[in-house]
Amino acid sequence: MARILVLYYSSYGHNSQMAEAVAEGIREAGQEADIRRVPETAPEEIVKNFGFAVNEDHAVIESPDAVGGYDGVVLGAPTRFGRMPSQMASFLDTCGGLWASGAMIGKVGAAFSSSNSQHGGTVPTLFDLITNMLHFGMTIVGLDYGFDGQNGVDEVKGGSPYGATTIAGPDGSRQPSKDELDGAKYLGKRVANTAAKLSA
Ligand SMILES: Cc1cc2nc3c(=O)[nH]c(=O)nc-3n(C[C@H](O)[C@H](O)[C@H](O)COP(=O)(O)O)c2cc1C
Repeated sequence: MARILVLYYSSYGHNSQMAEAVAEGIREAGQEADIRRVPETAPEEIVKNFGFAVNEDHAVIESPDAVGGYDGVVLGAPTRFGRMPSQMASFLDTCGGLWASGAMIGKVGAAFSSSNSQHGGTVPTLFDLITNMLHFGMTIVGLDYGFDGQNGVDEVKGGSPYGATTIAGPDGSRQPSKDELDGAKYLGKRVANTAAKLSA
C-alpha cells in the first residue's frame, strides 16, 4: 500500500477542509493517507489579532525527515500576496537534508491552494509549491480535465489543471463548495493511483 502525506498550512480552515478531501480521495483509492500541519511561525500577536485558528484533529508534522518516509506528498497552502505563506516556506526551508539525501526523487507530488478573490493568485501559489517539489525530484500530477467540475462558469469555482483550489471570498466567509472538495478528492485519487503504480 502506498503511503501519502497531505501536508498543509491554514489560517482560517479552508485548506484544512481541502486536506481532508484530498485524504478522502487517497483512501477511496485504497491507499494510506496521513494529514499533517506545518508549524505556525507567525508572532502570537498576529495569530491573536487576525484570528488564526488550527484544526487540532491534525497533528503538526513530526520533522522534515518524516516526509521522506512517504511514497507521495500533497502540499496545500493559502495564497499570500500571490505566493505560498512563510509558514509553509519556513518548513520547506528546513528540508535541506531531505533534498540532499534524494529521499523524494521519483515520488509523486501535487498541490492545492485557496485565495480570497477568484483571480487572487492560486495558480502562482500552486506553482510555488510544485517548484519546491520539483527541486526534490518529485513527479508532479495536476488536476487533469478528467475532473470535469473545474469547467463551466455557472458558479464561482476553484480548480485548475495545476491543482485543486477553493475561493474564500472577500471576507473569507465562503467555504469550499462541493465541486471544489470533489476536485480535491479527485486529486487525492490521482496521486494515490500514481503512487501505487510508481512504488509497485
Ligand atoms: C497576509 C495575507 C495575504 C493575502 N494575500 C492574498 C492574495 O494575494 N490574494 C488573495 O486572493 N487572497 C489573499 N489573502 C487571503 C487568503 O488567501 C485567504 O485568507 C486564504 O485563502 C484562506 O485559506 P485558509 O482558510 O486555509 O487560511 C491573503 C491573506 C493574508 C492574511
